[in-house]
Amino acid sequence: MEQFTTVEGLKAGLASRRGSSVGFVPTMGALHEGHVSLVKRARAENDTVVVSVFVNPTQFNDKEDLRNYPRTPEADLEVLRAAGADVVFMPSVEEVYPEPDMRVFDFGMLDKVMEGATRPGHFNGVAQVVSRLFEFVKPDRAYFGEKDFQQIAVIKALVKQLGLNLAIVECPIVREADGLALSSRNRLLTPQHRAAAPAIHTALQEGAAQAGRRSVADVCGAVTARIEAEPLLKVIYFKLVDEDTLAEVSDWNGTGHVRGCVAVQAGDIRLIDNMRFL
Ligand code: PAJ
Repeated sequence: MEQFTTVEGLKAGLASRRGSSVGFVPTMGALHEGHVSLVKRARAENDTVVVSVFVNPTQFNDKEDLRNYPRTPEADLEVLRAAGADVVFMPSVEEVYPEPDMRVFDFGMLDKVMEGATRPGHFNGVAQVVSRLFEFVKPDRAYFGEKDFQQIAVIKALVKQLGLNLAIVECPIVREADGLALSSRNRLLTPQHRAAAPAIHTALQEGAAQAGRRSVADVCGAVTARIEAEPLLKVIYFKLVDEDTLAEVSDWNGTGHVRGCVAVQAGDIRLIDNMRFL
């Protein structure tokens, strides 16, 4: 496994592999089995697997969150070696942003609802860093987890806007045995909040089972109430949205699939999850 910290080194390393298909997995590190599932999928579908580990400051709307974000570079390298990555890119902030990135993206509704509404500037920062990483790596396929469902919609729109020639591969959510979606932030939960957190998945499952049978408003109310039955959890939003447009649905009669998307405050930690409802 080759490691690079500079863009120049990365490009030179990749030049020697030209002609082979390149699968790319962008991450912010503190790697877990969710990330590993993306790397393994990339391993199965490409000649060369590139993984970036970079905590991107421009996507953090909360400075405290950026400061507290877990960083485990040594362990990450071990995980990536075991998962079969060929190339790891672990740059500094100055390497990715030699100058401040002033670009402002507009993805219509996609970056304004849900996470976009509650974390201002978040998706602009994601678009800034992912467009740069795509430019450095020039992948044929890039792998993203459905855990960040809205992020995938934004990335697909970014690829279209920039006219990039690469495929976005969507990978299913990996969960703990008790249903909690794996997340780098889970390790920051107190034991009490960790014990309460599986209620998020339970609530989504129960809500999905009622989709099409009870009204949208009733299902939304039931999911929120099920989560907040845990006194340590507070729902930031729960939305039932069209999977393609992310527009909120008001009934079950639309044409597309419906996804239930939730953000929950668990003490100091913000957790997100989602599930197909219909
Ligand atoms: P990060 O949160 O590290 O996630 C990297 C990738 O792993 C994302 O595509 C995310 O959806 C996926 N992932 C996280 N948890 C998962 C789980 N439980 N199951 C399946 N996939 C999971 O998302 C980011 O980093 C950043 O925004 C990034 C795209 C790297 C840009 O900075």
